[in-house]
Amino acid sequence: MSPTIRPRRLRQSAPMRRLMAETRIHPAQLVLPMFVAEGLTEPRPIGSMPGQVQHTLDSAAQEVERAIEAGVGGIMLFGVPQEKDAVGSGATDPDGILNRATAFLAERFGDATVVQTDLCLDEFTDHGHCGVLATDGSVDNDATLERYAAMAIAQAEAGSQILGLSGMMDGQVEHVRHALDAAGHLDTAILAYSAKYATALYGPFREAVDSSLGADPRNGDRKTYQQDPANRREGLREALLDIAEGADIVMVKPASLYLDVLADVAAASDVPVWAYQVSGEYAMVEAAAANGWIDRDRMIAESLTSIVRAGADVVLTYWAIEQAQLLGTMGLGSMGGRA
Ligand code: PBG
Repeated sequence: MSPTIRPRRLRQSAPMRRLMAETRIHPAQLVLPMFVAEGLTEPRPIGSMPGQVQHTLDSAAQEVERAIEAGVGGIMLFGVPQEKDAVGSGATDPDGILNRATAFLAERFGDATVVQTDLCLDEFTDHGHCGVLATDGSVDNDATLERYAAMAIAQAEAGSQILGLSGMMDGQVEHVRHALDAAGHLDTAILAYSAKYATALYGPFREAVDSSLGADPRNGDRKTYQQDPANRREGLREALLDIAEGADIVMVKPASLYLDVLADVAAASDVPVWAYQVSGEYAMVEAAAANGWIDRDRMIAESLTSIVRAGADVVLTYWAIEQAQLLGTMGLGSMGGRA
């Protein structure tokens, strides 16, 4: 007996597959993470992230122009300061590199794109942790909240429109929301890195921001605040807590290895759900492609398609400009057919 039901009918040609694609990506769904470093005279390549650099203010401005031109939805800024200390003073100093870069770029491009900032202390602390330390060396949750509140106000005043709370401290969303509101920053949105896992995939990022973490082997990881990769239910719990605390957007991070968590959060959330395709996801593809071991372009398209298919409304990706340009030349939203 020959089959009556033939799903292959809808796969028989490229135009047919294009028409049937369930997942389409638009350039505006892509956000570009960028590193701006203090004291550079020209951009400095990041070895473990081929094609990515630490920017000067001027090169950052050029990159933002390219991103806007390509139709990218927004940019997420990270600062790389020259001086660090125990409490991350550079994070709250209006002249600190992240706040200066934010003011510089928001003033130029704030009407054309959404300027966003990472709100976390790790780039600014000499011990490399995302918070301040108690006398016993542990990360002090509630003391850190006070630093985040001050950081939020500094970033909002610099012109950041969305604050990316990536430190994984308990109660950070509620605390920062109250601080922003009390200071009159009612329109500054909070992107909560809700389900953020302690992953090996952040390795290249640590180079990108000259992280101090790991210099002392006793403090070499973030496992007391970032989540255990073993835990799926807990990822949803963290996201629901952040929504209850007033998060405007929630995020799952990393993306590719955590698509189950992303799908859970997307099914339950009544606010937008974002995902971060992190440095290690980028580096693995670039490294394999550089060796000729994988089809780079198909791999990138497939990875982004999978992240959106799992439920991400927006993806932070270091490939944002390139992919937005490609989508633009192919006709908007055809990535589903391409992967
Ligand atoms: C914390 C932060 C990290 C990343 C984004 N925000 C690093 C960490 O938690 O160790 C990682 C992003 C990436 O790997 O691309 N400020």
